[in-house]
Amino acid sequence: KLSTRRTKIVFGVGSPAADLVFVGEAPGHDEDVSGEPFVGPAGQLLTEIIVKGMKIRRQDVYIANIIKCRPPNNRNPEPDEIAACEPFLKQQLHLIRPKAIVALGSFAAQCLLKTRTPISRLRGVWANYQGIPLMPTCHPAYLLRNPSDKRLVWHDIQQVMALLGLR
Ligand code: URA
Repeated sequence: KLSTRRTKIVFGVGSPAADLVFVGEAPGHDEDVSGEPFVGPAGQLLTEIIVKGMKIRRQDVYIANIIKCRPPNNRNPEPDEIAACEPFLKQQLHLIRPKAIVALGSFAAQCLLKTRTPISRLRGVWANYQGIPLMPTCHPAYLLRNPSDKRLVWHDIQQVMALLGLR
């Protein structure tokens, strides 16, 4: 039902041969306008993590969201919207078959792992998504409000880099 109000679908961006996939929650205003995930302020922070932190190019990873159309006023996605969108993400992950997935924030982590455990307990610990190592970490929008927790994310990202042989 979100599709009736969207400007653009926000399907995903990046390399279909990516070793690493980032999964966020849902498009915001900037993403709805551009059709590309993570291009607003939180997206700019994610891009910094990828480019300055991991020292890889944004176009060499794949970035997607659980929800493909912007929820009105950025409200939380509803169960029927998750049910409508999640099969697309599942297929994206199935086709890309990355070596690792980073789940950004509690919504993505809880959705992919089918758990209600809070992100504060999930983050920093490898989980498993259909045989693919999955690292839950904080959402970049949360980091914009709580910059002192950037060090937690850097800790999580370094584990991802080690798994991918990036350092
Ligand atoms: N937040 C998300 O979870 N995804 C986006 O694409 C942008 C902001």
